Amino acid sequence: MAKTESFRASLDKQPHEVASMFDGVAERYDLTNTVISAGQDRYWRWATRRALGLRPGERVLDLAAGTGVSTLEFGKSGAYCVASDFSKGMLEAGRHRRVPMVAGDATALPFADEVFDAVTISYGLRNVSESDAALREMLRVTKPGGRLVVAEFSTPVFGPFRTVYMEYLMRALPRVARAVSSNPDAYVYLAESIRAWPNQRQLALRIADAGWSAVQWRNLTGGIVALHRAYKLQ
Ligand SMILES: C[S@@+](CC[C@H](N)C(=O)[O-])C[C@H]1O[C@@H](n2cnc3c(N)ncnc32)[C@H](O)[C@@H]1O
Repeated sequence: MAKTESFRASLDKQPHEVASMFDGVAERYDLTNTVISAGQDRYWRWATRRALGLRPGERVLDLAAGTGVSTLEFGKSGAYCVASDFSKGMLEAGRHRRVPMVAGDATALPFADEVFDAVTISYGLRNVSESDAALREMLRVTKPGGRLVVAEFSTPVFGPFRTVYMEYLMRALPRVARAVSSNPDAYVYLAESIRAWPNQRQLALRIADAGWSAVQWRNLTGGIVALHRAYKLQ
């Protein structure tokens, strides 16, 4: 699949389709995010860094890191942050950021057991075909007592706001993406995949089922995004 073709993955999220889709999005990924989220993406990344509670010198894995825009934010804490993703196009588009980057699949991570103080994944888990396997892999590479933060689109809690937001997702967002993105069809997939994704409570249960403890979540922007935090038992 050439990078310039507009192409979206199907909701069964075949890994080669997802990787190709993100290769196609990579060129204008950061700009498109800021436009379609009306600038909220910066606040969401800041809040994710706060939820991670990183300390200088800690080792952090930013999984499905794409262009490394999230990794750069987490690095402001003084922690050593590694970006990992399976889309070479996304990693390449973020090369200028000079964050350590490792190509790898979230369901078979190229890291040893218990090496990270924290692992995090922003807007990535929804795109992983076997997301439960990814949650178990993240647990494997985390030190005992270490933490997980998942930032992901979720379900707005106030009914009327949820209705307006769903309208935006299905109608306006694809049109806005057509004006900005290098792969507009990917934003139809974005809208569909958000609608099909578990709500806050359902995701918390899946995180716990993967072996994580003390799972909690916090809503951002009325629940458009939820931050789930959990710990690996000592
Ligand atoms: C929406 S982007 C998020 C990028 C970045 N974390 C951010 O906050 O902007 C989702 C990323 O998930 C990656 N991804 C999806 N499935 C993956 C998998 N199985 N292994 C590694 N990366 C994956 C894609 O390549 C893409 O870069």
